[in-house]
Amino acid sequence: MHAFLAGLISVLALARTVLAENIVITVGHNTTNNASAVFQPQSVTAKLNDVVVFNFTEGNHTVTQSLFYAPCISANNANSTINGFDSGFRDTVNGTAITILSVPITTDIENQTLWFFDYNTCSEGGVGGINVNESSSQTLEGFERNAVRLNGTASSTSSSMSQTSTSTSSSSTAESTSNDAQRTVVFVGAAVIPVILLSAFL
Ligand SMILES: *[C@@H]1O[C@H](CO)[C@@H](O)[C@H](O)[C@H]1NC(C)=O
Ligand SMILES: *[C@@H]1O[C@H](CO)[C@@H](O)[C@H](O)[C@H]1NC(C)=O
Ligand SMILES: *[C@@H]1O[C@H](CO)[C@@H](O)[C@H](O)[C@H]1NC(C)=O
Ligand SMILES: *[C@@H]1O[C@H](CO)[C@@H](O)[C@H](O)[C@H]1NC(C)=O
Ligand SMILES: *[C@@H]1O[C@H](CO)[C@@H](O)[C@H](O)[C@H]1NC(C)=O
Ligand SMILES: *[C@@H]1O[C@H](CO)[C@@H](O)[C@H](O)[C@H]1NC(C)=O
Ligand SMILES: *[C@@H]1O[C@H](CO)[C@@H](O)[C@H](O)[C@H]1NC(C)=O
Ligand SMILES: *[C@@H]1O[C@H](CO)[C@@H](O)[C@H](O)[C@H]1NC(C)=O
Ligand SMILES: *[C@@H]1O[C@H](CO)[C@@H](O)[C@H](O)[C@H]1NC(C)=O
Repeated sequence: MHAFLAGLISVLALARTVLAENIVITVGHNTTNNASAVFQPQSVTAKLNDVVVFNFTEGNHTVTQSLFYAPCISANNANSTINGFDSGFRDTVNGTAITILSVPITTDIENQTLWFFDYNTCSEGGVGGINVNESSSQTLEGFERNAVRLNGTASSTSSSMSQTSTSTSSSSTAESTSNDAQRTVVFVGAAVIPVILLSAFL
């Protein structure tokens, strides 16, 4: 009985730890012809306890959290009550200084859409999102359009904001980008140790 319980607890603990993932977004692909390629994939799904890891591999970029209606302004500047993530400029020195920024999905941001941009390519569409709801009016495509409209070369002639009411054109984009996410299983050894200790007392 004790062995059975201990075994059951171990299995449950293992299931919990195995479910947490590191989701890597590579920052710094060749943006000459496509600024949106700076984040690959551009959109990911991350659940509670997952960690979104931004891997700066090329060029000089930031990953800065922002809001749907102000894609190229840090969330904190747009609304001081939001303490959004911001890597600051990460110059990779031509790939010799690769660094990461980790964004853990904690209970306070679980299920929220987190929008972000790269300071140096935002005006051309260098933006992305975590947990984007493509069925809502705030799609990745709409966010990218807002960035170009508000900060791009035509931004002085246009002040309107983009809000997509249909998801037909963007749904295929969303599918392909979420499949591109590199997922690696995180094994949190620390979570298993208490189970081993507990099983000794059963
Ligand atoms: C980026 O792409 C452009 C256009 O395809 C190309 O001319 C340039 O050499 C590329 N840069 C790098 C660093 O690969
Ligand atoms: C630009 O890059 C984004 C993100 O990788 C991709 O979804 C999109 O298809 C690319 N656009 C073009 C025209 O290649
Ligand atoms: C970041 O990219 C570099 C170069 O491709 C790679 O060696 C490294 O493993 C990546 N880091 C993560 C956390 O994926
Ligand atoms: C990175 O880009 C920012 C803004 O364009 C610039 O101020 C900074 O000097 C750049 N860093 C390097 C090392 O080039
Ligand atoms: C700023 O963000 C908080 C939540 O973080 C929200 O309650 C508030 O309404 C926002 N303020 C504005 C002006 O949007
Ligand atoms: C990075 O590469 C560019 C273009 O090839 C070159 O002009 C620059 O000197 C390089 N920078 C460093 C720090 O190696
Ligand atoms: C987030 O979504 C999941 C799945 O729908 C749900 O079980 C969970 O309660 C949600 N969490 C919050 C904080 O709303
Ligand atoms: C985008 O435009 C706004 C308003 O002009 C400006 O405050 C912000 O710094 C710009 N963002 C970038 C990344 O250039
Ligand atoms: C996505 O947005 C649609 C439309 O607003 C809403 O009905 C749906 O519940 C949302 N899905 C999630 C997972 O929040």
